[in-house]
Parts: sequence; structure tokens; C-alpha cells
Amino acid sequence: MAEQNKVAQPRIVLGITGSVAAYKAAELARLWVKAGITVDVVMTAAACRFIAPLTLQALSGRPVWTEMWQGAQDGIQHVALSRGAQAIVVAPATADFLARTAQGRADDVLSTLCLARECPMFVAPAMNVQMWTHPATQRNVARLRTDGVNVLGPNAGELACGEIGEGRMLPPEEIVAAVSAHFAEDTAVGKMLAGRRVMLTAGPTFEAIDPVRGLTNRSSGKMGFALARAAAQAGAEVTLIAGPVALPTPSGVTRIDVVNAQEMADAVFAHVARVDIFIGVAAVADYAPAAPAEQKIKKETSETLTLTLRPTIDILAELAQRAPQVFRVGFAAETQNFAQDIATLGEAKRQRKNLPLLIVNRAQDAINADDNEVILLDDNGAHPLPRMDKSLLARRLIKEIAQRLRQKN
Ligand code: C5P
Repeated sequence: MAEQNKVAQPRIVLGITGSVAAYKAAELARLWVKAGITVDVVMTAAACRFIAPLTLQALSGRPVWTEMWQGAQDGIQHVALSRGAQAIVVAPATADFLARTAQGRADDVLSTLCLARECPMFVAPAMNVQMWTHPATQRNVARLRTDGVNVLGPNAGELACGEIGEGRMLPPEEIVAAVSAHFAEDTAVGKMLAGRRVMLTAGPTFEAIDPVRGLTNRSSGKMGFALARAAAQAGAEVTLIAGPVALPTPSGVTRIDVVNAQEMADAVFAHVARVDIFIGVAAVADYAPAAPAEQKIKKETSETLTLTLRPTIDILAELAQRAPQVFRVGFAAETQNFAQDIATLGEAKRQRKNLPLLIVNRAQDAINADDNEVILLDDNGAHPLPRMDKSLLARRLIKEIAQRLRQKN
């Protein structure tokens, strides 16, 4: 294995659940063992029908865990398996396993271990395309992500059932690389923001037209929430000012919920004096109805309806005036096709809002997606980053921000 694929700590718990892709877990175990990593394998009953525990025992050179009470007579607790481990990686992860983990079940050795863990967790889903795209699975995956679980893949391609679509487990080499990348990023981020206060805005704003209608932007809030979590993990005291989104608050983060641009601006200005870093990730409406109707506007089919809009306050631009000492980071979603155009538009926006750092992406790629590809714009030019999962990208961006803040001071 290449040097960059080596992870810092020596032990990984590999969970295997009941999917045809279970045979690939053998290769995964082999790659880690070859890289000098100790692998403790835990298999569900269904996994044991696809691949023999003996295979994994031979490859890992260690006992394989298949039963809840295994080792109990020797005083070995299964929960102790994850203590001191660098990560639990469940590959393949079935739809059923994702559902049970999202619920916090602990009815077999692997689910109990996952619930009792202190270490990071990764899942590499593998299933039929209909099972993967089913709203229930997608709901469970979203829940797991917000609980801090790292979801690797799946890929699209030909599936074991003969159908074609998303649901193929990532190849073992890619899982090894993704886990290593995660730890490389974590080591780099460390507690880079210890003692720092960070404020972020996230999600859309909603500007009332009348009591039941409004203007808003398409924004899931995922990137802003991932950044808030990453900033907290990097040791910062984090305040997250969130527009209307249905996302749980990351642990250790103070959240203030707002609805419209004016409320978001008021919340920011009320708290900004205490802050070192401001990251404006929210998709703030640029215009709001000048005079929202007090009663629901009735439909007059023969008439066109004209709304008069007034510009909202530009929070970031205003902060440059009110709190120039704060390290201000903007996000911009552009709809152009070429990285060159996006960077040019972004740079003009960065100048206009007087920002040391602007992070720009293509709106079509970023909205609602779980991954993102961005370009960083600062006084030294444009720095593109490769496409990556939003939680990994969040940690990378926190590192970039922390480094720039350090240089500035
Ligand atoms: O909408 P625009 O592309 O100008 O947004 C770029 C950045 O400006 C984002 O970081 C957004 O949060 C911020 N913004 C703001 N107040 C506004 C509009 C945008 O702080 N009214």
C-alpha cells in the first residue's frame, strides 16, 4: 500500500454485514494488515452466510467476533473492542444495518459496539439500487451523517442482483484511502481553533409575502452545519445562526434559529463583538417583499400579481464596516459552467464584500448534495480543491481558515 494510505494509529474494527459484497471485506482486511494495522473483525449472523469467519480470522490473525457473549467467560467485553481503536469501519453496510444504527439499536455484537463506540465510524453501503434510493434508507443515511457517521459511497454500476444503478460498495482500496484521508485531515486540523470563537450562518432565509407564502433560496444547510461541527471539533466555541432547516444541532454548538434576512442580520450583529471568525454560509435572500400582506393574498386569475421587493441587508458586507477585526469568510454559489468564470465572478464578489477569503462553488453541484467541489479565493489567487464529501471538506476548510487566521495574526 502507498505511504499516504497508512493511517496513524494501529487498530481498526472492521464490521461486516450480510451482503454479497462481504467477500470484498476480506481484501479490505488484507490491505490494512499489509499496512501494519491490526484489524479486529466483527460479523453479523447474515455476514457469516456470505463469507466464512475463518477467512477473516486467517487474514487478520485474530479472533473474529460473531456472538454477543463471545469471550464473556474470559472477561472480555465486546464493547472494549472499540476502545483504543482508531475507527469502526462497517463494509459492506446493508440497508438493515444502516436502519438499525440510525435508530441506535444494540441487539447484536456489531450494533452494540457501534453504539458504545468513542471512535469515528465509517460505513460503506452495499445494496440493491431500489433499497439505496428508498426514502427510508436515504432518511437513515441522513440521520447517520448528522450523527457524525462518515458514509463512503456507494458507487453506481452493475449490482449483484443484475440491476444497474447506485448501490455498489466502494472498492476496498478506495475505502482504505478515504479512511486514511479522514485521519490525515483530522491530524492536520487537530485543535487548531482552540480558544477561538467562531460564528456561522447556515441554511436559507425565508421572506414572507403574506402569512402563508414567502421567498426563499434553495439551501439544505448541510455545508454550514458540517462546518459548525468541524469548527467545534477543532476546539472552537461555535455559534450557529440557522435559517429554516430540518437538521439537528451538531454537538457542542450553540444554535440560534432565525427565519428572515433581517433576523439573521440582527442575530449576527448582536453576537459579533465576541467573535474571531465569521463564516457566512447561509443563502441569504437578496430581496424581500417591501410590504408583506397581513392577510393571505387572494387569487385574481385575470390579473398579474406584482410584488415590490426591497434589497435586504448584506450581512457580510456590513460586517466589513462594523467588525473589520473579525476574520470574515464568505461562500458564493454561482451557476456558470466553467471554473474560470466562477473564480472571476467570485473574485469580484470577494472584492466587493471586502473578504480575506471567499469559497465559491457551482450552485447546481452543491445544493442538497452530500459532496461538493470548491475554489478558495484569497489575496494570493484561486486555489481549487478536489470534490469531496461535505464533512471532509468542512474539516479541510476549517484547516484552511485556521491557517490564514494564524498568518494574519
Ligand atoms: O448572495 P451572495 O452570492 O452575494 O452571497 C455571498 C455571501 O454573502 C455568502 O457568504 C452569504 O452568506 C453572504 N450574504 C450575506 N448577506 C446577504 C447576502 C449574502 O451575508 N444579504
